[in-house]
Parts: sequence; C-alpha cells; structure tokens
Amino acid sequence: MREGEPSATSMLVALARALVPAQGGRDPYAARLLPGRWARLADAGAHAPVRSAARVLSGGMVDHLALRTAAIDAFAREAVAAMEREAGEAQLVILGAGLDARAWRLGLGAKVFEVDHPATQTLKAARAPRERAPRFVPVDFTRDSLDDALSAAGHERARPTAWIWEGVTMYLPTAAVDATLGVIARRSARGSQLAMTYVDPSAVPLAPLVRRAFGLLFGEPLEAGFTPAALRALLAEHGLGVVRDGASDTWPRVLGGHPALAAVVRAERLVIAEKR
Ligand SMILES: C[S@@+](CC[C@H](N)C(=O)[O-])C[C@H]1O[C@@H](n2cnc3c(N)ncnc32)[C@H](O)[C@@H]1O
Repeated sequence: MREGEPSATSMLVALARALVPAQGGRDPYAARLLPGRWARLADAGAHAPVRSAARVLSGGMVDHLALRTAAIDAFAREAVAAMEREAGEAQLVILGAGLDARAWRLGLGAKVFEVDHPATQTLKAARAPRERAPRFVPVDFTRDSLDDALSAAGHERARPTAWIWEGVTMYLPTAAVDATLGVIARRSARGSQLAMTYVDPSAVPLAPLVRRAFGLLFGEPLEAGFTPAALRALLAEHGLGVVRDGASDTWPRVLGGHPALAAVVRAERLVIAEKR
C-alpha cells in the first residue's frame, strides 16, 4: 500500500460490487463507503451501459469479484448458522476488510470484528453507518500483533469464529500470511471455519509482469502466492484442514457474475478450512 494512503484495491473491489449484482443485488453500501469520484462511479452503476462497459473493460475481473462475493456471502451465512446451532452464538472476523459491507448487508446475528490496515480502516470508519457497526480493529499484518489486538477488542478464543480473509493474502509477504494463519488457528475454537482467497502463481500468465503492474498501478504489488498443494501443507502445519478449495468455476453460479467472463481470472482461488 502507498504510505499513509488507504488501499486502492479495496476501492476497486467495492466499486465492482456496486456495479455487478451478486446474491441480493448490487452492494447498496458501496457508494456510501467509497470516497469522492469513486462514489460517483459507483452511482453510475445504476445505468446498464456503464455496467456492461465496466465488465468488458475489466477483462473479467468485475465478474470474478461478483462470484467471489457471492461464494463468501454463502460461506458466512452457512458458517454462522452452523455455529449458532451448535454453540448458540458465533463471531465473524473479517481480515483486511477494506470496504466490505457484510456487517450491514448480511444482517447476521454474529458479533462482527473488522481487522484492517489503519490507513484503510480510518477512511471506512468515518463513512460507515453507526447502526450494526462492527468492532474496528486496526492491525498491520506485517508489524502488529493480531492476537493482542483481537483480545483487546473482545474477540473470545473459546467461542467459535467464522474467519473471512478475502483478496488480501496476495498483497502480503509469505511470512505475514504464515504468522496470521498461526493466530487464526490459535483463536479458533471447535467448529470455527476460515474462508481465504489466495493466488496460485502457476495460473497467472506473465506472472512477474502482472506482479509489477499491480505495484505500479495501485501501489500494491502482488507478493505471497501458493499452489493448492503448498497452501494445504501450510494450513496443515497450523492444524487447519481443507474442507474445499477451488477457482471460480467451482463457486456457486448465481445471478450476476458470469462464469465465462470470470474464467479469465482463474488464478485466485477460495479455500475453506477448519480446525482439526
Ligand atoms: C483488495 S483489498 C480487499 C478488501 C476486502 N477484503 C474486500 O474484498 O473488499 C485488500 C485489503 O488488504 C488490506 N491490507 C493490505 N496490506 C495490509 C497489511 N499489511 N495489513 C493489514 N491489512 C492490509 C488493505 O487495507 C485492503 O483492505
């Protein structure tokens, strides 16, 4: 991320959610959470030609993000419902939350924590609705103790947690992904589940070029990458077992993101894991 600035990729993702409907329609909170001209672009998404242009110009990315949102929404609903059935309550921790509006959009009963880089979270906290607000937990994954910050914010390690780590690991050094998985595992009571996306570099055409392009365009170069086998091994080291793992062709096919367009972005995969 650019020093002292909120994440540019978090704004792009929120804009995509304002443009193409996932489950339940276009994200109604995106325009409010986005600043300045980003918000005006999000409002323009009310017009069908703007939406069509964005989908084509993004080369499949907008459709990929719509499918990703829908897949993780489904995970959050199912995981929280299962925890409430089994344990009577649930916690939801959204890591690198960006301008994710699930705390408001999904209306879940769970206690919600949003962890993010302070530069991005400050922007969001200033614009977010007060009602049903999550607990904001500022953490830089490369410097701060996630463990201490979650304890201070009231996260309870003895109660089950649904963890969401969407579109973040690829911007972090491998050591920070490893350390964060360690904290997730230690703070995961029985029944906890993790939904995490990651980039498989072997599926990125011209990987070194793409990596640099993200740095030049957004100030957020692509860093950690894992093959599915390497990630499975890393999760296992932390006592986390893979429930399922796949690219967008395996995600639920819902209204909105078109699987054929999204197929251009096969390199980002979603893994669901649980404490074993
Ligand atoms: C592509 S955005 C994804 C945001 C959100 N998960 C979503 O899907 O809308 C990447 C997020 O990672 C966060 N991030 C990047 N580097 C970070 C770091 N070192 N510590 C904490 N968060 C970081 C950014 O602040 C941003 O919110």
